[in-house]
Amino acid sequence: MDTGNEFELLDPEGGDIPGDEWEAIDVSDTEADRLARERDREFHQFQKRIKDADQFKVEQSVFDDATFAALYKLVHDGHVVAFGGPLSTGKEANVYHALGPDDTDVAVKVYRINASNFRQMRDYLEGDPRFEGLGGKKKDVVLAWVKKESANLERARKAGVRVPTPIATERNVLVMEYLGDEDGRAKRLGELHIENPETAYEVLAEYMRRLYAAGLIHGDLSEYNVVFQDGQLVVIDLGQGVTVHHPNSREFLIRDCENVANFFARQGVDVTGDELLEFVTQPEPDPSRS
Ligand SMILES: Nc1ncnc2c1ncn2[C@@H]1O[C@H](COP(=O)(O)OP(=O)(O)O)[C@@H](O)[C@H]1O
Ligand SMILES: [Mg+2]
Repeated sequence: MDTGNEFELLDPEGGDIPGDEWEAIDVSDTEADRLARERDREFHQFQKRIKDADQFKVEQSVFDDATFAALYKLVHDGHVVAFGGPLSTGKEANVYHALGPDDTDVAVKVYRINASNFRQMRDYLEGDPRFEGLGGKKKDVVLAWVKKESANLERARKAGVRVPTPIATERNVLVMEYLGDEDGRAKRLGELHIENPETAYEVLAEYMRRLYAAGLIHGDLSEYNVVFQDGQLVVIDLGQGVTVHHPNSREFLIRDCENVANFFARQGVDVTGDELLEFVTQPEPDPSRS
């Protein structure tokens, strides 16, 4: 698949940039936990049905009851109408295609609490004002992670960065806008022949700058976490995104810049990580507002 020639930037919504009013994130016992404990008949039927469904077969052993309860709750609340096939099985999460309300497509990202590298997750939550007082319990960390991914997507969107719109979170599950078309999920940057690498680079650099100005650093930005949708670049996978308050945020930003610059240098764009860093951090976020 080739990429189109035109990229348009999104208009930022402005407002509360950079982040000084991080919404507090609640990781108290969820309704899904209560559902899993109660295990009523309807839930049992749902769990049996979904466990028997082909796309969840592989996961049977790793999805715990509370994860099924979270999926059940999302169906119950109308965010998901039916589950489709897996889009990706990653280190920490599986992503599924699903049908949302009114014939929309949605993507459902399910973090596997047991497979999760929660120590590393804990480190990423360090210093984030939204997670002050979060303990070290594995479940709480994963729950906080999902809330953070959703909050980061929302913040990125408001800052004018194209990302999938978050729709709902339930425990360790995030439902978001699906990126793709009849031919399947949107392709990652690294899976495509890019016809116009200079323009693509400029757009991504501008997105990084906007994220940074909004007080956020992606933390895992590379050709694997940017996709093409309708000829536009879309940034995904913001779970590990940190605020500029994080003690290692600079290190993460430098790494993001290197990954992105190296990828585009391989496509023939004359750019280095240092130049990108310089671009992204000018101007610095206003310290009086962060
Ligand atoms: N909203 C989405 N729509 C379509 N595909 C998606 C969506 N989110 C993720 N994917 C697909 O799933 C893969 C893994 O998702 P990602 O959020 O990057 O998780 P991971 O942490 O496993 O890398 C992505 O590379 C992409 O192909
Ligand atoms: Mg990813």
